Amino acid sequence: MAADPRTILLFNYYRDAELRGANLLLRLMSHLDDPDSQVKLSLHLADETRHAWLWTKRITDLGGEPAKVADGYQARIGLRVVPRTLIDILALTVVVEERSYQRYTEHAARSGTDPETLEVLREVSKDEKWHIAWIKGKLEEMAAAGGGVERMNEALERYRAIDRQVYGELLAKERAAFG
Ligand SMILES: [Fe+2]
Ligand SMILES: [Fe+2]
Repeated sequence: MAADPRTILLFNYYRDAELRGANLLLRLMSHLDDPDSQVKLSLHLADETRHAWLWTKRITDLGGEPAKVADGYQARIGLRVVPRTLIDILALTVVVEERSYQRYTEHAARSGTDPETLEVLREVSKDEKWHIAWIKGKLEEMAAAGGGVERMNEALERYRAIDRQVYGELLAKERAAFG
């Protein structure tokens, strides 16, 4: 039996967010040269691409197909912010990771979610937790070292406001689709 096309579409949005998240990490990789960051970024990047694969597999297992998403979370964020400094990129990564964790845990709490999807949600949420922790730690460390704590707080605040706006739009779209 083919799955609800709206569910496939939602999973394509999740997949798109993971792929674009990986892209942001690749940018960080060229900025953070220290060996410890390179090790963590390598694992982090491997996680995000695996998350994209898990959603891809869930989509195809349900009889759907991976599809291009033009107006997903990061594309909408990208229309509103252009992070220029390392502090900016790290701050944006923190906000994006926090949203991804919140989105997945919120979905997992919904009634009627099938066990296979729940398994994927659990798997990805577990990784997002350490992603937030280490990127936040790195951001705070770099901000403190470079006298940029104020700039960090300002960036976090600005990105969180944009994130709330973008997430509100996506949620409205989702609610309209699912009725
Ligand atoms: Fe992820
Ligand atoms: Fe993540």
